[in-house]
Amino acid sequence: MAAKAIKVYAPGTVANMVCGFDVLGFALHEPADEMWMQLSDTPGIQIHPDPQYNLPTEPEKNVAGAALIALLEAAPAGTGFELKITKHIKPGSGVGSSAASAAGAVVGANALLGNIFSKEQLVQFAMFGEKVASGVKHADNIAPGIYGGVTLIRSIHPLDIIPLPSPDLHVTVVHPQIEVRTADARAILKKQLLLKDAIKQWGNVAGLVAGLTLKDYDLIGRSLEDYLIEPVRSILIPGFDEIKQRCKEKGALGGGISGSGPSIFMLSKTAETAHTVAAEMSAVYERLGVDYHTYVTTINQLGIRTEAIDSF
Ligand code: HSE
Repeated sequence: MAAKAIKVYAPGTVANMVCGFDVLGFALHEPADEMWMQLSDTPGIQIHPDPQYNLPTEPEKNVAGAALIALLEAAPAGTGFELKITKHIKPGSGVGSSAASAAGAVVGANALLGNIFSKEQLVQFAMFGEKVASGVKHADNIAPGIYGGVTLIRSIHPLDIIPLPSPDLHVTVVHPQIEVRTADARAILKKQLLLKDAIKQWGNVAGLVAGLTLKDYDLIGRSLEDYLIEPVRSILIPGFDEIKQRCKEKGALGGGISGSGPSIFMLSKTAETAHTVAAEMSAVYERLGVDYHTYVTTINQLGIRTEAIDSF
């Protein structure tokens, strides 16, 4: 029997993976949002406010609410949910805050309904939340949250998601405490690209997928270069070039902007290197006088998880 109430842990995600704009992403262990959900006798969606952030509670304006509205259209008539979210992933941080809310809500709802929907359906529902957040549907935060690990989103029309294998990878994320709205970070992108840059980019996407599959760390590192998006977006992130250079000098395989920024992530082969990299990131922001937070973690192969609880 499905649980009456559920607690959901919805982790952050790193979209793009440097060269795979809108098509690659992976799940983290931290930061992660906590959500509590229960079925309600009242049809529809009731969202309790998170006192920490002034996020809208009207379902159609809330990313979790918009995702649940899409799910309700396919759920048994008369279904209702009550939802409470404690955000630990700051909105506008670049580690998939909106996706955690949207994907966490639909995974929680599915658990309450006895898992009647497939992961692919859940991605479809959750993308409505991303549309509220950034104006467009994309699944490179949603899919790794729902599937765990690294995911390739070959297409969203029609949806074609391929979970990818990966070797052990240690992840360092630094979040300078400034907000970059995904909608703004998308608005500044060039609409036309040079063929010579596109060729280098798809070489890297293919190289990264091959490197992950073959567990070839050097190939992963060589492929973590972005010729299309990073040159435009990195100007929004203080210290970006210096951080990237210093982290690579200290042994990081490579990295770049996490999602639409301002967070920066680096992949390393060992935990020791990942901690050294965190110290480099910290040193740059200490010197620049920018508040920041670092995370040293690994790729989360499970993604969003739920736990039955006695009461809401
Ligand atoms: N692929 C999206 C973008 C992710 O970079 O705009 C946003 O988090």
